[in-house]
Amino acid sequence: MGWLFGNKRLADLSELHTDIHSHLIPGIDDGAVNIKESLDLIRGMAGLGYKKLVITPHVRSGSFENDTRQFDSRLEELQSFLQKKGVDIKLEVGAEHTIDDSFFRCLRRGTLKSFGKSKYLLIEFPFTAMPLDIKDLVFDLQSAGYNLILAHPERYLYLRDEPDTVEYLHDSGLLFQINILSLVGFYNRATQKFAQKLIKNDLVDLVGSDLHHQKHLNGLKKALSNKYLIDLVESGRLMNSMF
Ligand SMILES: [Fe+2]
Repeated sequence: MGWLFGNKRLADLSELHTDIHSHLIPGIDDGAVNIKESLDLIRGMAGLGYKKLVITPHVRSGSFENDTRQFDSRLEELQSFLQKKGVDIKLEVGAEHTIDDSFFRCLRRGTLKSFGKSKYLLIEFPFTAMPLDIKDLVFDLQSAGYNLILAHPERYLYLRDEPDTVEYLHDSGLLFQINILSLVGFYNRATQKFAQKLIKNDLVDLVGSDLHHQKHLNGLKKALSNKYLIDLVESGRLMNSMF
């Protein structure tokens, strides 16, 4: 059930239990810049009702050439800091892997960073064009045992012109994670519209905060009264609580 705040219905994010997309390891990507900001943002997420956060640092050619083998120790540092500060929330670390040269390098080296009990891998498409041979890549990765989650499909506006491919990818088992912020028009109107269309077409499996900084946290609070979010959370079809 959503919360009632005055006469206003609000989404109850505690029903999601887990957020599966955020940038909260300090100083590693374009998310939290220092541990104080990580602390503030994580406290904010606990305040919204989340019990667990999967933190997913960018791994992207050119801008975020992160070595995923360092992610576990970075998470441990953050966890022990949070413990000292009395913040009670579970954390896990994965990655947001952009499908570019960095992805294929990680694939060759065996350093793709999945999370969850059954190798869930959060992938991001480039914003300019669909990755080449994506259907084959999805098949190959699934054959290798990965469960693929596509980060914010609504933000790849070229997908609007490829409804058959979108359906095909979803039908083949690629899970779609939309950003809560897209629903309130945080990025742009076209992204908001596309997110609504994906929901109407029953193509949304997960929602994510994609939290980087305080402005995003403010946007999430604003989104609590969004009808699409309330209905999605109450629909029972989101898979967030599995993680
Ligand atoms: Fe992200």
